[in-house]
Amino acid sequence: PPWKVSLKVNGKACELELDARTTLLDALREHLHLTGSKKGCDQGQCGACTVIAGGRRINSCLTLAVMHQGDEITTIEGLGTPDDMHPMQSSFVKCDGYQCGYCTPGQICSSVAMLDEVKAGIPSHATADLMEPPKLTPEELRERMSGNICRCGAYSNIFDAINEVAG
Ligand code: FES
Repeated sequence: PPWKVSLKVNGKACELELDARTTLLDALREHLHLTGSKKGCDQGQCGACTVIAGGRRINSCLTLAVMHQGDEITTIEGLGTPDDMHPMQSSFVKCDGYQCGYCTPGQICSSVAMLDEVKAGIPSHATADLMEPPKLTPEELRERMSGNICRCGAYSNIFDAINEVAG
């Protein structure tokens, strides 16, 4: 029998009935028709499916929708609109932080939540054993964004875009 799950997606309450094996990514794309989150590998390797769940970035292909009962999910569609873009979206446009664009929604969701992690003093693998609060050095930025792959290799513009917002 189908399972019922309630999610709050981009500020909107959504009631879904789905097979318990449905990933969060498939629930977003196929049940809610939010196709901004992309399916690259469907196995946690590329980051194209990154969304923000309860303030933390996650690979939505690696988690089941039913595990997110009551959670607040933000996708690229919820960060901004073409007329009212999130600062990170504007920065990617300004810095040309993409080539084909397939990884871009994941890159943007990931970088928005990543800057919140830095602000909250959450260490990365590179800084885990340091006592000081983390700083966004170029090495740290690469480490923290290493879960988001860009097959076009647009990394230098992607990092410029993120650095613009990080200040
Ligand atoms: Fe989820 Fe590649 S589609 S990490």
